[in-house]
Amino acid sequence: MDAIEVIVAKRDGGELTAAQIDWVIDAYTKGAVADEQMAALAMAILLNGMNRREIAGWTEAMIRSGERMDWSALDRPTADKHSTGGVGDKITLPLAPLVAACGAYVPQLSGRGLGHTGGTLDKLESIPGWRASLSNDEMLGVLREAGAVVCAAGSGLAPADKKLYALRDVTGTVESIPLIASSIMSKKIAEGTGALVLDVKVGSGAFMKTPERARELAETMVALGTDAGVRTVALLTAMDRPLGLAVGNALEVEESVEVLAGGGPSDVVELTVRLAREMLEAAGISGKDPADALGDGSAMDAWRRMIAAQGGDPDAPLPRAGEMMTVEAPASGVLARLDAYAVGLAAWRLGAGRARKEDPVSAGAGITLHAKPGDPVRRGQPLMTLHADEAARFERALAALDGCYEVGETAGEQLPLVIGRVTA
Ligand code: URA
Repeated sequence: MDAIEVIVAKRDGGELTAAQIDWVIDAYTKGAVADEQMAALAMAILLNGMNRREIAGWTEAMIRSGERMDWSALDRPTADKHSTGGVGDKITLPLAPLVAACGAYVPQLSGRGLGHTGGTLDKLESIPGWRASLSNDEMLGVLREAGAVVCAAGSGLAPADKKLYALRDVTGTVESIPLIASSIMSKKIAEGTGALVLDVKVGSGAFMKTPERARELAETMVALGTDAGVRTVALLTAMDRPLGLAVGNALEVEESVEVLAGGGPSDVVELTVRLAREMLEAAGISGKDPADALGDGSAMDAWRRMIAAQGGDPDAPLPRAGEMMTVEAPASGVLARLDAYAVGLAAWRLGAGRARKEDPVSAGAGITLHAKPGDPVRRGQPLMTLHADEAARFERALAALDGCYEVGETAGEQLPLVIGRVTA
C-alpha cells in the first residue's frame, strides 16, 4: 500500500477499506507516512467525512497504536467524564473527587488548553507542587489513596492520536466529527474506564456551534464507546456563555474549591451534580446523592487527598496575577449577552492560554465575571475584572471583548444549561 492511494481514495469521496485504515495509522505512527501526507488525508476526511464503519476502524487502529490500561485490580467500578472543551469549564476539578466520594474510582487522563479553551492540567498545575505526569503504577497508587486521579496521558497511550492531533492543530483539520470522535474515544477506550460520560459543549465557545452538530458528534462517540464495551452516555450542554464566574487557571481552581466547600456559582454546581449522577448511574452505583457529598465535606476530603497524593499542597495560597483592570457596565439594565468565545479569547490573550503547545501559561491570568447573562446591572458597576502578569496585555484582551457583551432592557436568548442527552 502507499499513502497516495489512500489519500486519493478519500479525496475522491470513496470509503477507506479496513486494511487501508490499519496500514495508514500504523505507518504514520512509525514515521513511514509523512506529516504532509497525513495532513492531506486529514483534510480529505474533513471535507468528505467517514462513515460509521470507517470511524470505528480508525478509532481501533489508533487504540492499537499504543497500550491499553487495565484497572481490574481495583475493587470498585471505574467511571470517567470527558468534556469537548470550553470557557470556564473547570467541572473535572470538583467532579472527579465528588464521584470518588460517592464510591466509584475516577481514572481521568486530561489535556492542556489550546487557543481559547482552557485545559484541566494547566489549571491544576497552578497548585504549588502538583504533578501532572504519573507512571501507571503511580496512577494506581493515587486511585487507591484518593479514589480519583487526574493526570496527563503517558506517551504509550494512543501515540497515533498524539501525532495526529498536533498535526490537525496546525493544518485547519480539528473541526471534523470523525476526527474529533476517534481522537477522544481512542484515548478514553485505551484509558480502560468502565463507564464514560461525555459532556459535549454547544455554542460559540465550543468546537460544535449548533445543537445539531453536537448531537451528531455525541451519537458518534456514544456508539464508539458502547461498541468497545464502555457504558457511554453523552450530555449536550451550553457553551454560548462562560461556565461559572472564573476563567483562568488558579482562578478556576479557587472557584472549584468553593464548589467543593458547598458554595460556588449555581451553573457549576448544577452541572457538576448532574454529571456525577450520570457517572454513578453508568457505573451501576446507587444509594448516594452527589449533592449530599458536596454538602457534607466528603468530596472536599477526596479533593485534598487527590491533590496531596500528586504532590500538591491543598492549603498553599494560589498564585495571583500582579495587574488587574475592571471593565464597567456601559448602561443600567440587564446583561443581555456575554459571548463565551470572546471571554475565552480575552483570557487567552491575558496569558491564561498558550499559542503553541510548548508555551508556558500564566497561573494567575484570566477573568473574573461579576455578572452573568440575565443578571441586572447598574451603569458603572464592575462587569468583569481582568487579571494579567503584565498590564501591556489588557489592550488586546479588551479588543477581544469589544462588542461581545450587551446591556439591554431584557435578558437575551440563551441555551438551557443541559440541552439534551444521548444514549446508545
Ligand atoms: N479533544 C481531543 O482529544 N481531540 C479532538 O480532536 C478534539 C478535542
